Parts: sequence; structure tokens; C-alpha cells
Amino acid sequence: MQGKFITLEGGEGTGKSTQIKLLSEYLQGKGVEIITTKEPGGTPLGQEIRRLLVTGEQDKLDAVGEALLFFADRHIHLVKKIWPAMEKGQWVLSDRFADSTFAYQCYGYQNKVSKEILDELYKIAVGSFKPDLTIILDIDPKVGIERSLRKAEGEVVKEIRFEGIDISFHERLRQGYLDIAAQEPKRCVVLDANKSIEALHQEIVRIVEERLGL
Ligand code: TMP
Repeated sequence: MQGKFITLEGGEGTGKSTQIKLLSEYLQGKGVEIITTKEPGGTPLGQEIRRLLVTGEQDKLDAVGEALLFFADRHIHLVKKIWPAMEKGQWVLSDRFADSTFAYQCYGYQNKVSKEILDELYKIAVGSFKPDLTIILDIDPKVGIERSLRKAEGEVVKEIRFEGIDISFHERLRQGYLDIAAQEPKRCVVLDANKSIEALHQEIVRIVEERLGL
């Protein structure tokens, strides 16, 4: 595959979608053919899975049920959208990918679904494929959740099922992301997201240029 696959990761309210938009515009300006996408919900069928996962009561699904649905969404996303785009030479920029499942469903829920089980699901749904670069936006969860809830105020269907879980869940998943980055330093970079949109964008551009040799 010729295209590159870049993922943006992090807890709630880190500004991923804003940064994806800015990075996509920047890369297009450099002549890179790029598509932006997200998980869950990067495909029409995925949108239906997304609704099940991010709306409604917290206790309607447990960690295993969530992990299975996130990996189902991911597999469809890869087969229908990510891989075909990369085969055409396009770059794919995704708002979340599998690190979210390790951070939220394993670390967040205190191993209710283990890393070993998620590794197995990864092999089934994704195989040996991995992002070329993962940028993890790190922020104090209290600040991030507040931002995210403020943003949801104007939404008709509120996608805040995860925001409602207690703060210790969000602190654990934040640590999860830091552990993943420490284990895979070649793929992952952690950036402090508590800064201006423009300053963070400049840092992301620098990392993409350094790591992917633009
Ligand atoms: P979003 O708000 O970034 O669109 O993501 C939807 C929610 O789903 C967010 O609260 C994080 C959560 N999530 C997981 O718990 N596990 C996953 O694998 C993914 C992709 C998202």
C-alpha cells in the first residue's frame, strides 16, 4: 500500500477533530491526496454502530460488548474505506483507531477486558496492519470533559455516554495512552493539548514532517 495512515488519539475534548481538519488542509496544500475519517462511524454501517455505542445509558453495554462493537466498526472501516483509499495512494487521517479501545475498554475499565483479549480481537479485525503515525493529544480529563460537554450542549442527539463515566475512568485511560506511547515510541508521539489551536497545529505539522518525511 502506498498511502500513509495517521491516527489522532486522546481522551475527551482534546481538540482532535479541529486538528484533523487543520492537518488535512495543510497536507492538501502540500499536494498530498488525503481523506479524513473517524471511529466509531467512518462508514454508513459504522454510523449505526456508533449510535449504539455513544448514546444512551452507560450500563447498557459492558467492556466486552463495547470492545466487540468497536472492533466490528473498525473492521468494516478498514475494508470499506481505509484500505481502498490507501491502495489508491491516498493518505488517511483518522480521528481515533485501535488505541482508543486499549485505552478506554482495557485501561479505563480496569482490565475488565484484558490486553491479551484485545490483542486477539485486533488480529481478527485488523491483522498485522498498524498506523504509520499516531499522535496522542494529552489533556487533564477534567478540562477535556468540560470542553466536550459544552460542545454537546447544542446537539440534538447527545453523544456523551462515555463523558458521563466517573473521572477516575478518564484518568486511567489517559495513563493508558501514555503507556501505549512508551511501549511504541516509533509509532506514537504524545503532545500537550492544553495550548492554542494554532500552536498545537504547528507542533503536529512538525511531527508529521519529521516522522513521515514530507
Ligand atoms: P468521539 O467522541 O471521539 O467521536 O468518540 C466516541 C466515543 O467512543 C468517545 O467517548 C471514545 C469512545 N471510544 C471507545 O471507548 N473505544 C474506541 O475504540 C473508540 C474508537 C472510541
